Parts: sequence; C-alpha cells; structure tokens
Amino acid sequence: MATDENIGDDGQATQKLDRASDAGFLWNFWYPAARSVEIRGRNLLKAMLLEVPLVLGRTDGGRAFAMRDACPHRGIPLSYGKFDGKNLQCSYHGWKFDGCSGQCVEIPSLSSQDKLKVERIFAGHYPCVESDGYVWVYFPGGELRAPAITDDLRDPGSRPPENAAAEAPSLVRNTAAEPPRLATFSNRYKSTHLSCDLPSHVDQGIIGLMDPAHGPFVHQSWFWRSQKSMHEKAKQFEPIPNGFRMSTHSPSSNSAPYQMLKKLTGAPVTTTIDFVLPNMRTEEIRSGKLWFSSLTTVTPVRRDVSRIDFLAAWNVPLPITVFRTFAKTFLRQDQETMIQQAEGLKHNPRLILIDDADRPAKWYFALKANLQESRHTGGEMVHPMDGPTTLRWRS
Ligand code: FES
Ligand SMILES: [Fe+2]
Repeated sequence: MATDENIGDDGQATQKLDRASDAGFLWNFWYPAARSVEIRGRNLLKAMLLEVPLVLGRTDGGRAFAMRDACPHRGIPLSYGKFDGKNLQCSYHGWKFDGCSGQCVEIPSLSSQDKLKVERIFAGHYPCVESDGYVWVYFPGGELRAPAITDDLRDPGSRPPENAAAEAPSLVRNTAAEPPRLATFSNRYKSTHLSCDLPSHVDQGIIGLMDPAHGPFVHQSWFWRSQKSMHEKAKQFEPIPNGFRMSTHSPSSNSAPYQMLKKLTGAPVTTTIDFVLPNMRTEEIRSGKLWFSSLTTVTPVRRDVSRIDFLAAWNVPLPITVFRTFAKTFLRQDQETMIQQAEGLKHNPRLILIDDADRPAKWYFALKANLQESRHTGGEMVHPMDGPTTLRWRS
C-alpha cells in the first residue's frame, strides 16, 4: 500500500490508489455513466462516478468521449468551457483539448518565444464506449502509472493528470475490451430501462440487489406475492469467473408471472441469475421461444451515493407500460428501504451476515477482496467458492 513517502513524480497516481481503496471502489472496470440520449448535439454533460467528476460529450462525427471535469491548468471544470464538435476549450485561459484523446492542441497565451510542447499536455481522459443505449466509461486503476515526463515539462500546469494513463493505449493493460451487454435471444423484442439513486455505498446497493430474504417484506404486492406464500427454498449456486451463478432452475412457484408464462408456452420456465464483479446482476428467463432478460448494475457515484441502472428486454407478450409500472414499483420499494437503511448506517452500527440467506453477500465481499489481493500481488485470483453449493432459505 502506498504511503505519503512515495509520492514523487507519479504521486498523483499513487494518491489515487490510496483514495480508491479507502472508498471501496473497484477500478479497471467499465461503468455506465449516462444514457446516450442525454448527450445532445455539442452540449456537454456533467457526471460523477467513483468520485471522479466527468464531462461527457459527442464529436460532430458521433463519437462519445469522457474527460475528467477539471482543466489540467488550474482545475476549473472543463464543462464550463465551449465544445466546437472536436475540441473543448477551457473557459479560464482558453486552452483547447481534443475531446477524444484529451490532448492539448492550443494554448492561446504562448508567445513566439515559447518552447512548451503543447501536445505533451493532456486533460484527464477515459475510454468511452456506447452500448445498449448507455455511455460506458472505463476507469483505469491507480496501479496504471502516468507516463514518465522527462524533458521540459516541469511546471505544475503541464504535469500529466492523475489518470493520464488512460489515453496511452499501451498502459491500459487490463481493459476488458468492451463493456457488458444485455443478452437478447430473438431479433424482435421490447426493451426499457429505469434508474434511481441510492443514498448508500455501492456495497450496500449490491448486497441489497442479491438479497433473497427481503422479498416477502419489501416487495409485498398483490401481483407478486404475499408474506403468506413464504416457503423454504433450496437453490444451487456455482462459481463463474469474477462472480457466481444461481444455476439454471425453474423459478419459484409462488410468483404469478412465472405461472402465466408457463401457461402461454406450455414449456417449462427456467431462470439463470448471475452476479459478476464489479457490480452486475443479469437474469435470463426462458420458456419455449419466449424470453426475458435483464442487466442491473449498481454504480458508485460517491462513497455515500450509488446509482442503480436496470435494463430489460423481452419478447413475452407484455406491453412496455405495464412492465414499467411493475418494475418501477419494485425499484421504489428497494429505494425507500435503502433510504431508511441509510438513516441507520449513518451511525456505524455493527452488522451481521447470516448463513445461508446472506451467503451471496459474503461471496461478493470475498470476491472483491480476492480480486484486489490478486491485483496487488500479481497472483491468480482465488475464487471464494470451491464448487457448486446449495443454499437454503425461506422467502
Ligand atoms: S484553467 Fe483551463 S486554461 Fe487555465
Ligand atoms: Fe428488492
């Protein structure tokens, strides 16, 4: 672990590593930053992810980009500047940066005598890809060091920003080439998305997302289930890379939508639910030719705020409006519970994780710790599960 002593030329990167581990965020992953439709024309959009302020935009050529929302000269947010469809000009002294690379292309104050290599100055910049209607941004970790600066760029304004490694492709070693995608199983389907903020650390959001025991209490609805229908369940789980899977099974008989689906196709209904680091739950429900698929992520905004994004697609005969009404109810129930939970968490209570209902939460914490450990040591990541296992709970 880095300490203040080894803050040198690349000290900013080192400091970031410290800050990152303090906040409990996972770096070197893609996170959804905004909906694609939120970036219109040459408008700039502010976003905050993993406590990193971002400015998002789109070139006239249609390519989305993500820069750190701070000018490397004096730190003023670049989102106050002007974007001409290619370059973003800072509002303070007019430095211009290429949106797609973060590279400085002009410093208006330079005289003909100046020898400063403008092109060696970069604004913080992050890999950015659009997929499933989202702008995904990749956050390289603190272990990715900024390129060494060896010559005449020694004044503080020209130091590479802490995430300058992002624009040097050779340094982005661990980039999973693409962000995750929602699985679909036919050419024609309906889809929708929902999102809401949670007033809690990403960890609480995630363990809430995979918690099997809150259903009968938080999600009591006439259309879903009542507390009376609680019964004992046994579900098989298996390890998958960076996560775990609730093995393909026929879902709970006490949920009306599954019963309806079975009636429609005459085929058995199966469901598979995966959790994969850093923050993603996917669910696939299939019955004959009909299917439903969802991808849910919990993204850290700050250490006390996260955002849940829910994306779903289906070819079952279910109108979007009807589906959204149900999904919104669910999401609101979770959100309201987490607002109440945050009230309690403010005072740092001691908490208990029990077997088996909280075992998925325990796996999540272990996966996260083991991943960080393997990145730290360079060794292979140890999976917390040693094989398939059955968990039992009542819900
Ligand atoms: S602060 Fe941005 S150009 Fe000076
Ligand atoms: Fe829930």
